[in-house]
Amino acid sequence: MAFFNGEDLRQVYKKAQAEGYGLMANNIAETNVLIGLLEGYAKRCSDLVIQVSPGAAAFAGGGNRTTGLTILSYTIQQLAKYYPIGVSLNLDHFTVNDMPLIKQAIDGSLVSSIMIDASRESFEENVRISHQVVRMAKGSGILIEAELGKIKGMEDEVASDEAFYTDPEEAVEFIKRTEADLLAISIGTQHGVSKGRDVVLQTDIAKRIHERLEEDSLLIPLVLHGTSGLLAQQIQEIIHCGVCKLNKDTRYQYEYARTAHDFYRAHTSSIVPPSGVEDNSSGLFSESNWTPNKSDFDPRVVGKLVRAKITETAIELIDQAGSANHTLLREG
Ligand code: 13P
Ligand code: ZN
Repeated sequence: MAFFNGEDLRQVYKKAQAEGYGLMANNIAETNVLIGLLEGYAKRCSDLVIQVSPGAAAFAGGGNRTTGLTILSYTIQQLAKYYPIGVSLNLDHFTVNDMPLIKQAIDGSLVSSIMIDASRESFEENVRISHQVVRMAKGSGILIEAELGKIKGMEDEVASDEAFYTDPEEAVEFIKRTEADLLAISIGTQHGVSKGRDVVLQTDIAKRIHERLEEDSLLIPLVLHGTSGLLAQQIQEIIHCGVCKLNKDTRYQYEYARTAHDFYRAHTSSIVPPSGVEDNSSGLFSESNWTPNKSDFDPRVVGKLVRAKITETAIELIDQAGSANHTLLREG
């Protein structure tokens, strides 16, 4: 039905904070995952937050980030028209090196929100860079997410060997000085393949940050990165402690690969020539009696399976976050 601008998205988070549920923020780099997510979110009547990292933009644009972001933004805006939910787009882990693209995204109204990740800089430098992006976005309605603390692991070009937990007092000063709309915090999660059972989650830190911001009337949504692998119970605890936006990427990547792997492995004999047939596809094996089966190797066949698996996964995660039946559009 609609592509949500920053002001719409602000209302999405406000409602979630007021009613005590969260929103998964879902990374994409191509359309199979996007369509799978749209289907799942529409089925559960939940508004949808999509995210694109600089690496995903480069991938979608054949190496050109501006082109890739434009393609993905237009694709999302066009597809959103056919689903009865609000769909928003966040730039994920954009750094000080991405300033020209951040400016293009703001000027072209390509996105609903932007994460400026200066978390590996000193506190003062982080404040300076984050506030600069807030000022760039002023008047556009686009929300700005800034990060304080460090998330362990690798996300695109942002890597950290260690986790640094966010200090609640610093968080208050950081938000006062940057005027960011969302705050990404570090409480022990990791980017990438981390198992919930091995993660030492300091949910009390999230709770304390939430309380300190509230005391100073700065109750902005808290964001948690690196949530793939967390158990449903951990997700609920995190939301209970005041986290509103939960970032997911690795889980979808795994489901994508596993679906394609299982399908191709089950159909090897209709795609790969048997022994005795020369493995040369230039004539599509016309020299032999063997023919590959187009109804298995057409990429749309595995693509549909991937979409269905992403839909199923999205529904599981929407139910964990509790955002089902809360789309703003339903309330008209
Ligand atoms: P995961 O890869 O652990 O899901 O984290 C995603 C993320 O934080 C994107 O910003
Ligand atoms: Zn992240």
